[in-house]
Parts: sequence; C-alpha cells; structure tokens
Amino acid sequence: MQHLLSAIGLSTNISRRTFLQLAGFSAIGGGLGYSRYSKPKPTVHEQDGLDLPRYVSRPSSAVVVGGGLAGLACAYELAQRGVKVTLLEKSPQLGGKIASWPIKVGEDDFRMEHGFHGFFPQYYNLKSLVSELDITRNFVSLDTYAVVYKDAKYRPEVFRPSNSAFPWNIVDLGISSGNRLNWGLNLTKLAHWKVFREITGFHPERSYGRLDELSVAEWVSNDFPRGLYDLYFLPFAKSSLNAPDVLSAGELMQFFHFYFFGNPEGLAFEGTKQDMGRSLVDPIAASISNCGGRIITDVAVSSVKWDNNCIASIDVERGDRGQDVPFWVERNDLMQVASLPSDRCDFYGAGDDVYALNTNGKEALRLTCTHQGCTVQPGADGHFHCPCHGAEFDGNGKVVRGPAQRDLATFEVKQHAGDRVQLVGSSRTGSTVASNVETLTADYFVFAADVGGVKHLFSLANGEVPAALEAQVNDLAVADPFAVTRLWFDRDFEWEHSYFTSLSGYSLTDSITLYHRIQDDYIEWAKRTGGSVVELHAYCYKEKEFPTQEALLTTFKSELLEIVPELRSANLLHQELVNQKNFAGFPPGSFPNRPGTTTTASNLLFAGDWVKMPFPCGLMERAVSSGLLAANAILQQEGLQRRPVLSVMPEGVLSI
Ligand code: FES
Repeated sequence: MQHLLSAIGLSTNISRRTFLQLAGFSAIGGGLGYSRYSKPKPTVHEQDGLDLPRYVSRPSSAVVVGGGLAGLACAYELAQRGVKVTLLEKSPQLGGKIASWPIKVGEDDFRMEHGFHGFFPQYYNLKSLVSELDITRNFVSLDTYAVVYKDAKYRPEVFRPSNSAFPWNIVDLGISSGNRLNWGLNLTKLAHWKVFREITGFHPERSYGRLDELSVAEWVSNDFPRGLYDLYFLPFAKSSLNAPDVLSAGELMQFFHFYFFGNPEGLAFEGTKQDMGRSLVDPIAASISNCGGRIITDVAVSSVKWDNNCIASIDVERGDRGQDVPFWVERNDLMQVASLPSDRCDFYGAGDDVYALNTNGKEALRLTCTHQGCTVQPGADGHFHCPCHGAEFDGNGKVVRGPAQRDLATFEVKQHAGDRVQLVGSSRTGSTVASNVETLTADYFVFAADVGGVKHLFSLANGEVPAALEAQVNDLAVADPFAVTRLWFDRDFEWEHSYFTSLSGYSLTDSITLYHRIQDDYIEWAKRTGGSVVELHAYCYKEKEFPTQEALLTTFKSELLEIVPELRSANLLHQELVNQKNFAGFPPGSFPNRPGTTTTASNLLFAGDWVKMPFPCGLMERAVSSGLLAANAILQQEGLQRRPVLSVMPEGVLSI
C-alpha cells in the first residue's frame, strides 16, 4: 500500500486511515478479490443461459452496408450461423480504416494503409476472432509502448505487459514512471480527489451524467493536476482521434477506463506482420465467403426504401452512378484561385461535388474520387490528385495511380447561364446509364458505415423514416481530420524507444512508427537497401492551422528531423499521405442521444465505432464489439444462442 500512496502522490497531510476510509478499499478490495498475482478474467457481456441452437433452421438473410471492421465482424458471425449475408462496401477494398491498397515505390511493391494500428491485449472480441480464424501468427508483439514528450521536464513513459488489475496497475505505473513526482496530484485537495475518483471509478451512466456536458479542455482548465494532463490525458485523449476542445470528458473517462484503470493486461500491444488487409481483413472476408456470404465491393447504395417503420429494400449500383437528368451547378471562385494550370480552367459546384470544365467549355469532369469520394485537387503537373489516399487521375480523368480503379465521371455541358452551367451525364464514360442496378431485400439490414456514410444512407430514404431515429443520426458528429504520412529514406537510424511511439508536445505529430522494424515487406526492403520507412500520425489536427496538404507534409517533415536528427543526412525516396475527415466524433453532450446497436426500426441495426456501447471499449475493439452486438441482436430474434461478447470490468472499482 505504501507504493500506492506514494505513486498517487498522497501528501503526508492526509492520514493513511482517512485515505482508506475515503477510498473504501477495505470493503472493495475483499469483495472483488483482486490480487497482485491473479488477473481478472474478461467480463462476459452477453451470454445465454439456455442451451439454444447455434444455426438458423429457416432461411434468414441480412444485408450489411459497410465493409470496415464493424461490418466484417457482424457479417462473419452471421455467416457462421447460417444467415444468408450480403456485405456491401463502397471502396474497391474491404476494411474501412484498416484497408490496404497497393503502391509502387521505385520498382518495389508495397501496400499502404490508413496508418499503424495497435492491437491491445484487452481487445478481447477482436482477439477472439483472430483466434477462431487461426491467424495469431499474422501478428507480432511490439514488447513495449513508449510515450515521448517534447518538453524535456518529462521523461519518456514506457508501458509493458501487465498481469495486474486495479489498484496494482496504478502501483506498477507509479513505480515504473520516471515522472511520478511530476504528476501534480495532491489528494488533500478536493478538486484533485474528485479527479482521482473519476479516473478510478468509471460508471457507464453516472460518469457520463457528471462529465458528458464538459469538453476535456473545460474539465482540465480548473485546478486539474497539470502533470497528469500533460503526461497521460493529453496524449491519450488525442489517440481517441478527438481533440480535447471537442471531446466529451465523459467519453474520455470511458476511454481511460478501457485502456488504463479497468485494463488488467497492460498497454504493450501487437502490430500486424504485413499490412492489415492481408493480415486480418482478407482472412475474415475469406471466412464469410466460405460460409456462403456474398461480398460486393465498389458498390454504391442509391436508394433505401422504407415501409411501415422498417427497411423494405435497398437499391445498389455498381460502376458510375447514372446521371441522365440535367442539373445546374454554380461557379466555384475559391477553387479558381487555388487551382493550378491545366486545360481545365473553370470550376463549378462545391464541397464533395465539384466539376472542372475543360477550356472549350463543352465537357466537365466530376472531381469526386472514385475510391471513397474525396474531392481531387488539380496539381501543377496537370493531373488531379486525391488528398485522401493518393489516387491520381490525368487531365482527362483517367486513373494513373490507385487505389481508385475507375476514371473520374465525365459530363456534357448543356448550357451556360451567368455563373451557372447545366450538366448531364456523358455517354463517353457511361455516366448516363444507370449501370447494373440491383434491388436487395433481406430480413435484416445492418448499417455499418462510418458517420458520413450512415448519414448518406438516411439521405437516400424513399418512404417515411422514423423521425426520432433520423434525428439521432443527424446529431452524429465527425472528429477533426487526421493525417498519416509514410516516408521512405535511404538510410537507417538508431532508435531507443518502441517501434510505435506516441509523441506529445509537437504542433502536428502525435506518433512515429518504424515500419522497417515491424512489417515483413518493409523489413526485407530495409535489409536489402539499408533504408528506413517512418510513419507519422496527426490524430486530430485543426484545419485552420494546416489548411493544405503541403502545410501538413512540410510540418511533418520538419518535426521528424527534430525527433530523429540523424535523418537530416538522409535522402527522402518516396512519400505517401493519407488525409481524411471521417472519424467518429464524441463531442460534449453527445452521449444521451447517441444511437445504440438496436434501433426503433424493427429490422435495422447499427454497427460502427460511433455506436453507443454498453461497456467500455475503444477504436478497433469498439468497431468489432458493435458488429458482434448487432449480429447478436439478429441471432436473438432468430432464437439462436448469442455469441459471448467480452469486455474489461464494466465499472471502475471506486465507481459511485
Ligand atoms: Fe481514397 Fe481518393 S478517396 S484515393
């Protein structure tokens, strides 16, 4: 106990007896039976007591829209149980934010991703899939996980695997942290005591009740232990992909409980030995197909038919969406200024629906990337470049570089009128023809797209949508954008920290990953060439501070040279940038109205990392768990045994 007292910075002004009374450890410790050496087992969230059948006995079907981790997990479980599953994904690649796509670096083939992902040991549901698919060999332990601070007053924190639950995980943290005297926690102060109770006493409803209306920035602005904020709250809040000024303090506490105080496994994690597409997505997809599931990629939902408070059918289209009805678009002066020379001189439309007219004013290209719909930008080379995953199109819209696989859609200009033009789909790319439309009916529909995708599905409604449900979806928020750059250099360098290290205190960079020490293709390339491949992440940057991709890349590269000075003498061989704004947002006040897995529409379920969860979880584990909960809801309606869904202890030991 002495360790605990010193670890949390307990002042001698408060007696040990008073502390124990406050904490209530004597009762709680005995009741829960936590010990230094026996790790608590995962909590089973859903387990049926009855011995129900595992497989459907009548034909039953489900359409899952969205092929990210949530949709994959849901489709996997349903397909295993004999439900006839159709999984739809708008991109050419499955996986959502863990998708990968081929790129060329010189003569070498690599696969690019949305950024390195850590597979933490308390990702119980994700790990159960990995174990069932027998693909544990596709993962490699990173052994330790470090957080390094730009501010020299803080020493790096190093997290290792643990076998201890609360309070011993705090004791271990206190013992191993070289910063424990800088935590600034003084439990004789009521405000600090309240903070301590919040972080050790998460409760799925009461914590949100106390903190959800506050942003993290507001919460910590008033007599908060400064060191705790700098060392842990700030870097870990940002790794939720939400910036502290727009992240609910209640949501941060559930995140903290899941990763820190409710987690008996420690924070050292695994990465994939190859890209996540090959290591994880492909095996899940193969299992779905082997069980009779149908997977359709590069497909767009064009209509969702509602009838009698449920979804009757959805229409899907492959290829370019038909556009045989003329439509007007207005001139876009902002893009005129920003544009660079090309034979496309005028721009029309706005947002994600921009058109570039060619010089004769008779034809237009839609600048919507055919990969995932980002707006491509004209470059000095006369080509169009996609800011999201680096696809490139020539001046006529033809694909030069993936991951996009289809050319940009072309349109004919029917007439000009002042600052507007009227466009209609061009027969040249077949955009006048509604290609390959299919109507899908099913017993169940699972919307497992990201926030923007789910809102889009509701915007395609044909028929009456339950108003309250629509309002819930409209309220969903998207976080600030994230950016990932991967850089190939012609020399290696010494690195004393973990191969994935979080960074704190830099204006843009939040982490560094040494790909040439983790993934096999990169290791092999580095051995052969003597080079290195480094990835930098910015989790939730502010667009007004970094308005262009050039600004992002310039800052990433200059911060990298501060972090790894040895690279000043290296030559940059190749760079990739992924830049998107599609991560789920958890702003203050968003908890009460956040939709859960089941909805008021009788055959519609939601899955995704934006869904309200009944137990603490985060990031990939949140996506997988939500997909399994959606599958369980269907299995339950079919009278089948549900899959046991696992979690860390759902409440903190000191929850009140
Ligand atoms: Fe992915 Fe364009 S949206 S490359």
